[in-house]
Amino acid sequence: MAPTRPGAVGRFRLPRPARRRVHETYVRGRGRLRPGPDPATRGEGIACGLLQMVRAEGESMNTAAPVSLVTGANRGIGRETARQLAALGHTVLLCARRQADAERAAADLALDGPGTWMPYRLDVTDAAGVTSLAHQLEADFGRLDVLVNNAAINYDTDQRAVSADLDDVRRTLETNLFGAWRTAQAFLPLLRRSARARVVNVSSGSGSLEHMSGGTPAYGVSKAALNALTRKLADELAPERILVNAVCPGWIATDMGGPGGGPVEQGAAGVVWAATLPDSGPTGGFFRDGEPLAW
Ligand SMILES: NC(=O)c1ccc[n+]([C@@H]2O[C@H](COP(=O)([O-])OP(=O)(O)OC[C@H]3O[C@@H](n4cnc5c(N)ncnc54)[C@H](OP(=O)(O)O)[C@@H]3O)[C@@H](O)[C@H]2O)c1
Repeated sequence: MAPTRPGAVGRFRLPRPARRRVHETYVRGRGRLRPGPDPATRGEGIACGLLQMVRAEGESMNTAAPVSLVTGANRGIGRETARQLAALGHTVLLCARRQADAERAAADLALDGPGTWMPYRLDVTDAAGVTSLAHQLEADFGRLDVLVNNAAINYDTDQRAVSADLDDVRRTLETNLFGAWRTAQAFLPLLRRSARARVVNVSSGSGSLEHMSGGTPAYGVSKAALNALTRKLADELAPERILVNAVCPGWIATDMGGPGGGPVEQGAAGVVWAATLPDSGPTGGFFRDGEPLAW
């Protein structure tokens, strides 16, 4: 079957171990999926149609395109960041805690528009898993150009610092701070092989010491710490021209942000801005919509 056809708007590639499961089953035709020649796997639906495209596109990976990894990219701002980066021509490693969620998000994005998304399982609290993915990506790509530390939990509006459950605070730091930290450490060897490495820590105005007030203690402290980590990494990596910045996406209507916030497109745009900074761009900064924020 021809690798390109009307309506085949996006590419969704499985990483190597999963790719072995792929069958030529469904192709995406003019705006709809129709079964391919292998009746054994008919009924697997949209994902199979896209998997067929994977196979049709061949086994080799396009290493000329920037390779960008987004954590927590199965929904919310992470997913939209993955969409926008792919629209700019990046090969996006779309990471989620569960492989099925990563695959579903990649498949959905591929239906909506052009781009290349590769789904990977990555739980940023799983040190062994993070290391293992770094090894896999070394084999698959040999480098990483952009790391977006987006995954986060627990906007704890129900807590106060004076009485916060410290186990809950610790659990929050494990994802929001240590998750980003261990991911940056693990992928640093791959980032060092890029000519234009960028790290974006998706932070929050809640982490700004200047504007900090009471409430949301676990979340606020985790983001203040992430901001501090941003400064540390940026300073240490400046001689290597690896740009590291923290970005607040603003109040955005997601599962975390709740209703009333801005659209994900707007939140992700500021993240993508920091992910695609020119070599002359800033490092060690804190930004919202591309404008500096007070620490
Ligand atoms: N929305 C806002 O108004 C707002 C404002 C300021 C900053 N931010 C920041 O923007 C980023 C994205 O937020 P969002 O609003 O898009 O949140 P969201 O809709 O709740 O999405 C959070 C994402 O992080 C993932 N995640 C959580 N724990 C993880 C782990 N251990 N390993 C890997 N992934 C994990 C979630 O995966 P699961 O689906 O598996 O749970 C989900 O994909 C966060 O850093 C957040 O702090 C958001």
